[in-house]
Amino acid sequence: MSNNTLILGLQWGDEGKGKIVDALAENSEVVCRFQGGHNAGHTLKVDGEQKVLHLVPSGILHPSVHCVLGNGIVLSLPALQQEITELEESGINFTDRFYVSGDCALILPTHIAIDKVRDQSEGIGTTGRGIGPAYEDKVARRAIRFSDLQDLDKLQSRLEKLVDYHNKILVHLYNAEPIPFQDVLEELQNYQSLFQKFHSGTQDLLRGWVKDNKKIIFEGAQGSMLDIDHGTYPYVTSSSTTAGGLSTGLGVGPKYVDTILGITKAYTTRVGEGPFATELFDANADQLAKVGHEFGATTGRPRRCGWLDLKALETIVFINSVTTLCITKLDVLDGFSEIQVCVDYGKEQNPIYKTLPGWKQETSGIRDFNDLPQAAQDYIMFIENVLDCPVGIVSVGPSRDQTIYRA
Ligand code: IMP
Repeated sequence: MSNNTLILGLQWGDEGKGKIVDALAENSEVVCRFQGGHNAGHTLKVDGEQKVLHLVPSGILHPSVHCVLGNGIVLSLPALQQEITELEESGINFTDRFYVSGDCALILPTHIAIDKVRDQSEGIGTTGRGIGPAYEDKVARRAIRFSDLQDLDKLQSRLEKLVDYHNKILVHLYNAEPIPFQDVLEELQNYQSLFQKFHSGTQDLLRGWVKDNKKIIFEGAQGSMLDIDHGTYPYVTSSSTTAGGLSTGLGVGPKYVDTILGITKAYTTRVGEGPFATELFDANADQLAKVGHEFGATTGRPRRCGWLDLKALETIVFINSVTTLCITKLDVLDGFSEIQVCVDYGKEQNPIYKTLPGWKQETSGIRDFNDLPQAAQDYIMFIENVLDCPVGIVSVGPSRDQTIYRA
């Protein structure tokens, strides 16, 4: 692996980024997140034990790796505290290696209330974590930021105005219950210690690390098709999940990224509402869902399943300037006698499929690309030919070691 690697999901999230970040973090010194919040759900399986991370970078499980939440993150203080507590209880240490940008916009209880009540009428199918409303306040220049925890007295009148504004939305637009100002203030007071412990000038830190040639992983959350600009708008999340999000969300310029690793499942899934050209509603969908355990890591919702959409991925590979592909969950296709891949769209945007032979053979124990059944190798090579991008990593199971690295 080259020095600095940007790891991005190329679909609608849940591509298995967490596992790959965790595996690559072994040989890295820093792992940073730059967008999204605790709407993410990165599932890792280490020593047979499953861990789901929502906010903390997936590098945290390696004791010597430094972890950063960049300015582009929207930060829920209770979610952060809960995750830290749980990880500390399982023996993971945060001291002197976890840094949170003072510029992160905070997610307040009122953001969560607005998100939930609004989604009932708008039907985006959000995770209900307050992500959209928190980003709205950031862009509108009225957000409370992590560094504001330094002086809560100074913050009080601005916070009062903001909570009053949120409550007007809740009460007058949605006929919902207001949230008392005191509750919001108390939440900030309760978690003020997080600021003392973890607040950091992350942009300066990153500049120093880049200068010192440290090996850095930039960990994307969600996927490119959920990008606020390039995704299936309005059925998207509220951040830049594509490569550009790294520069704005962390303050690291594009030339400091050596490898852009794009992760896609060997098929497609989506949680929440919105278009999904290759979605299946037949026994194949049930098989993908069952074998792939396709339930959301954050909300537990069943994921919609379908075939791989190479037409959409061609655009996404370009937007992100992906240099290497990683195909995850190849083993989920082991039981299919035929596999379809979307290679174009018809007039009505209906998918045009190419049918490829399945391999009907277990792949989860294979560690060398050349040991994969020929039809599985052909499937991977078909993907790289269409996308004109090499496949460097293939994942055949949830554990760290169930990973095939191609030279
Ligand atoms: P939000 O990010 O909670 O505002 O949700 C907006 C859309 O993004 C919804 O369709 C969510 O299901 C989807 N979404 C957000 N985070 C994730 C994720 O980590 N994996 C998959 N989908 C996500």
